[in-house]
Amino acid sequence: MTANEEQIEFWNGKAGEVWADAHTQLDLMLAPLSDTALDLAGPVAGLRVLDVGGGCGATTFAIAERGASVWGIDISAPMLQQAAKRVTDEQDVRFSEADAAVHSFSGDHELVFSRFGVMFFDDPVAAFANLRTALSPQGRLTFLCWQAPQLNPWISVPAGAVQPFLPVPSSAPDPRAPGPFAFSERDYVVEVLSSAGFNNVACEPLTATLTVGRTLDDALEFQTRIGPLSRVLAEIEEDAVRVSAMDAARTALEGYLSAEGLRLDAACWLVKADR
Ligand SMILES: C[S@@+](CC[C@H](N)C(=O)[O-])C[C@H]1O[C@@H](n2cnc3c(N)ncnc32)[C@H](O)[C@@H]1O
Repeated sequence: MTANEEQIEFWNGKAGEVWADAHTQLDLMLAPLSDTALDLAGPVAGLRVLDVGGGCGATTFAIAERGASVWGIDISAPMLQQAAKRVTDEQDVRFSEADAAVHSFSGDHELVFSRFGVMFFDDPVAAFANLRTALSPQGRLTFLCWQAPQLNPWISVPAGAVQPFLPVPSSAPDPRAPGPFAFSERDYVVEVLSSAGFNNVACEPLTATLTVGRTLDDALEFQTRIGPLSRVLAEIEEDAVRVSAMDAARTALEGYLSAEGLRLDAACWLVKADR
């Protein structure tokens, strides 16, 4: 088995296609978090920046707009195809299909950045040690990862509502297994980065209220494609049970509807470190 084989398969399968298809909505939803992360990453004009797991390119383009030369790498062909469609002559961006954990880097980047693209490595210490080789001696790392699901109502509210309808897993999942919440424990994140050779590791909470849909129907439809409600379609076969599960999700979410849309809180870590 090669490094990150399961994730490569995952992000090149339905997940990658769904993300590519839904990128406009995802980018609108996640922009408040990544805009703040970029503000806190400091000035980037004139720098060479590596955007890890840059997906459909939203942050790659946003960093380039701040005056940097940006290289977005990702393992997902469908998401990179979406990114390529958005390139114009004015932007200093390029994209490659590459596994950030094992790619051989040239060591001339001043910043390695990621919005939720670094929680999927089979061997996080080895992967971050490899990312460190992408940095120049004064280089730095800034990334966003999710805090625990229970601190992220935008996920935990609908997930909790449909839970009683889903099959009970045969064993408790490993909370550090590759996936969106692998880095939810702050001490673990610090330990991984320190073991990978990074210095001055800082892991600060960053919170925002996310708009997960303009209407309740939008939000439910979106979350059945990406997010906790997708398990309802994947794992429940009986139509009547599916309907009951979706009704439960609707009831749980409707209290969050406001004039600005369906808005729920999110919590992540803003992680910064020096090479
Ligand atoms: C949750 S998505 C985030 C995408 C994008 N950063 C965004 O915020 O829209 C995670 C991304 O990480 C990418 N990814 C996962 N493992 C990777 C690896 N080993 N090397 C490069 N990219 C990876 C996935 O293909 C996917 O595009």
